[in-house]
Amino acid sequence: MATLAIVGAQWGDEGKGKITDFLAARANMVVRYQGGANAGHTVVFRGATFRLHLVPSGIFYPGTICLLGNGVVVDPEELLAEIEELERRGVDTRSFFISDRAQVIMPYHKEQDRLEEELRGERRIGTTGRGIGPCYADKVARYGIRMIDLLDREALSEALDRVLPIKNRWLRQVFNHPGFEKKALLEQYLEYGERLRGRIVDTVTLVNEAAEAGKRILFEGAQGTLLDIDHGTYPFVTSSSPTAGGVCVGAGLGPTRLNKVLGVAKAYTTRVGEGPFPSEERGPLGDHLRTRGQEFGTTTGRPRRCGWFDAVVGRFAVRVNGITGLAITKLDVLDGLEKVKICVGYRYGGQTRRTLPTDLRLLAESQPLYEELPGWESTAGARSYNELPAAARRYLEAISELCGAPLALVSVGYDREETIVVNPDLLF
Ligand code: IMP
Repeated sequence: MATLAIVGAQWGDEGKGKITDFLAARANMVVRYQGGANAGHTVVFRGATFRLHLVPSGIFYPGTICLLGNGVVVDPEELLAEIEELERRGVDTRSFFISDRAQVIMPYHKEQDRLEEELRGERRIGTTGRGIGPCYADKVARYGIRMIDLLDREALSEALDRVLPIKNRWLRQVFNHPGFEKKALLEQYLEYGERLRGRIVDTVTLVNEAAEAGKRILFEGAQGTLLDIDHGTYPFVTSSSPTAGGVCVGAGLGPTRLNKVLGVAKAYTTRVGEGPFPSEERGPLGDHLRTRGQEFGTTTGRPRRCGWFDAVVGRFAVRVNGITGLAITKLDVLDGLEKVKICVGYRYGGQTRRTLPTDLRLLAESQPLYEELPGWESTAGARSYNELPAAARRYLEAISELCGAPLALVSVGYDREETIVVNPDLLF
């Protein structure tokens, strides 16, 4: 058995897509276990660029089984558009399946997401507007709609009868919204179900049978540790569990069956949306990182906030995910800087702390405590760890030591070739 989870160790956008794509070459199965179309990754395949939100990037390897687990929230309209686009451009999607237990994003979820954000005004979360939070909320409230419901008129009708009276009353009374009509939703979502029939299956059995047969399974996390509903910077978080524990719940794999956890972190830090970010650089360095690292959201196009690597965040991520190896991406973006800094603690009220505070006001007012290291000229062309400039290696080793996990992999560019395997034993 070889099961490996790829998790984001920061606020998302760590470059997990590229790492998944790199490791998917060796995987028999790639499984997403949480999130929805709020995620986004860009994959270059045969010279063409694909922007995916739901379909795992393993789809580009013929024969690799790609799954959306039960913990994912699926927008069928978005998903069908993605499948059609892939097929139109010559990618075989026959090995792509969706959990029959996954929750369905309905039009009222997107409407609710937008209306609630509007109402929050200055206190908005800065969501991606994809209906993620409202869909997970309905799941927990026990009136969500599951993919299996889309396959049967009676089941979907019953599910809509469960949710619509509450949803419509709420939309009308709180937001003055006209609400949603059952008939139109029923017909539209049955049609989606028809088009997805054959792909909606019991993925928990598929995952466990593959694990029992000793297949290599990759669990692809979306977002990141600091956006986790429990462990992130609440309430500025997403509504799922991107951390490694989410694999067990969101894919139906028992915790004792997860072998390795690869934590992906950028060589610096970025964040989209609102919420505290102690090592943020609002001046020229932030602009430099944004331009050089092309830090604009895949899903929303929003400019990302940028800053130095935060090892307090990194250590926290290593702990809550049980990270067994680190993949550091976009090291090349720091090329040419005279000095590089790592945040090693937070100063607050005359005290230094080295763990992440729960109190967001404290986090927002914390001053980062930095360790400064010499920069390097260029990582271009480096294809092995020893080919990296000595200062770059020192920087990576400092990150590894401060975070408390060994280096597994380093990425120095977009290309698959620009990936350096530091320790193959930490991968598969
Ligand atoms: P939601 O997931 O759309 O509800 O958004 C909640 C928060 O998570 C917002 O701050 C988003 O910007 C952030 N977020 C959601 N998905 C991603 C992602 O894939 N990368 C980075 N941030 C994300």
